[in-house]
Amino acid sequence: MEGQVNPLLQFLQLSIGYFLFSFAIAFSVFSVLLFLLRSKFWSWCTCDICHCYLTSSWRKEFTNLGDWYAHLLRNLPSQTIRIHVLDNIITANPRNVEYMLKTNFLNYPKGKPFSMILGDLLGDGIFNVDGDLWMFQRKMASLELGSMSIRSYAFNNVKNEIKFRLLPLLSSVGGTSTTLDLQDVFRRFSFDNICKFSFGLDPGCLELSLPLSHFAHSFDLATKLSAERAMAASPLIWKMKRLLDIGTERKLRVAIENIDVLAREVIRQKRKLGHTNHQDLLSRFMGVVDNDVYLRDIVISFILAGRDTVASALTSLFWLLTSHPDVELRIREETSRVMQQDQEFLKFEQINEMHYLSAVIHESMRLYPPVQFDSKFASEDDVFPDCGGTFVGKNDRVTYHVYAMGRMENIWGQDYMEFKPERWLKNGTTFCQDSPFKYPVFQGGIRVCLGKELALMEMKCVVASILQHFDVRAVVAGGDLRFDPGLTTTVRGGLPVVVKWWRGL
Ligand code: HEM
Repeated sequence: MEGQVNPLLQFLQLSIGYFLFSFAIAFSVFSVLLFLLRSKFWSWCTCDICHCYLTSSWRKEFTNLGDWYAHLLRNLPSQTIRIHVLDNIITANPRNVEYMLKTNFLNYPKGKPFSMILGDLLGDGIFNVDGDLWMFQRKMASLELGSMSIRSYAFNNVKNEIKFRLLPLLSSVGGTSTTLDLQDVFRRFSFDNICKFSFGLDPGCLELSLPLSHFAHSFDLATKLSAERAMAASPLIWKMKRLLDIGTERKLRVAIENIDVLAREVIRQKRKLGHTNHQDLLSRFMGVVDNDVYLRDIVISFILAGRDTVASALTSLFWLLTSHPDVELRIREETSRVMQQDQEFLKFEQINEMHYLSAVIHESMRLYPPVQFDSKFASEDDVFPDCGGTFVGKNDRVTYHVYAMGRMENIWGQDYMEFKPERWLKNGTTFCQDSPFKYPVFQGGIRVCLGKELALMEMKCVVASILQHFDVRAVVAGGDLRFDPGLTTTVRGGLPVVVKWWRGL
């Protein structure tokens, strides 16, 4: 008996041995990779910009990476720089932006590196594809989003979410010294809205007393971890982790599985109940697409597109209002001029009459765009139309930097750092759009954002309704906002505010 080995013990020994062996191999591969990457970076380029980037010495002078880029780009005639260590050309030149997004659009697709990063989460959704797959979804979605019926469906959803959730929530803390994280409130608000719009599903996230729904939590995690892939020193790192199913890649896989389970269930229910009399986007797409995986991809892209962007825009706007009470007063004056005295909520047709509010929203997103930059990958060698004739090599990554563009003196004038909604008003009264290539907050050209009108409607309704009843004050006003890295602009630490009742004009 003594000579016999217990099979359970043998199994345990083998498993532990196997685990330790795999761990040692994975660790060695990582170390070699990191070493190679670091030595490649350090020996490859020692120019001032790359050195400053690699050593993060820009932090001594600037709050956010975007502020440093804006500073560099402002001081160059071409408004274009190359960060060699990132293989990235960054431009804030409207001529280059128009060239990429319109004139030579076909040479600047999203490209494989981008679609691989977001591929597990977005699959073949519109946000993540080029060519025919993109064209088909774009055509379908433009038709649907342009229709009056979906606009009024979206308007009613927004109205209900404000009336029955957002305002009651603010009332519950109104007049108290409780601080509320307004960024979190807006993220929950816009998640409810975009899910109702895309899926016909109400996750009820704005009930602060409830924990964030499983779906919202998985969605948050999946977008955060996908964005982190883009920040890895090399795609090899996350690909290796995915292969081994370890760390953040394992968490990402689980989060995406949760999203898939819910999407499959919603699609199954809709098929069972019949989708033809439903108004949400998914039901509309179900009329022409019968592949469930493709349907899931289409809808998930919309949720990503419409969720954090709106929340981010509203957060910065309320932060700016705290230090600009004059602007707040003018919004209130306009709201009471446009609405009748006993009117509770804006009517759909009154939204376009809010010229000053349009100007405020555009001005706020000029300084704080929800998507700070956007990258494409060149298919062929090319030359930009800027005064320096910047050369773009095949497969080069090219980024137009929306945040930096909002801070260019040659685009906005000497007062570019001032929050001045008036710059958007013709004769001081009528809102006028600027060229989307100077202001690519919603992108521009062939792939311009499809949800722009919906987003503006949602934001106008929120701002007008909140200011009708409350004074919202950021606990820390002035100074500069600091952002977390990610796909959309997120204020680090959130936006704590105190809510007071507003007594009227
Ligand atoms: C303030 C809010 C918003 C901003 C700033 C914004 C901005 C953008 C930007 C910069 C892009 C281009 C992204 C890229 O190609 O990489 C984009 C695309 C898109 N947006 Fe928006 N967006 C907003 C709200 C919305 C909403 C509410 C929806 C949906 C209802 C939406 C739907 C889309 C779609 C479908 C695309 C892809 C268009 C295409 O590739 O052809 N967006 N948006």
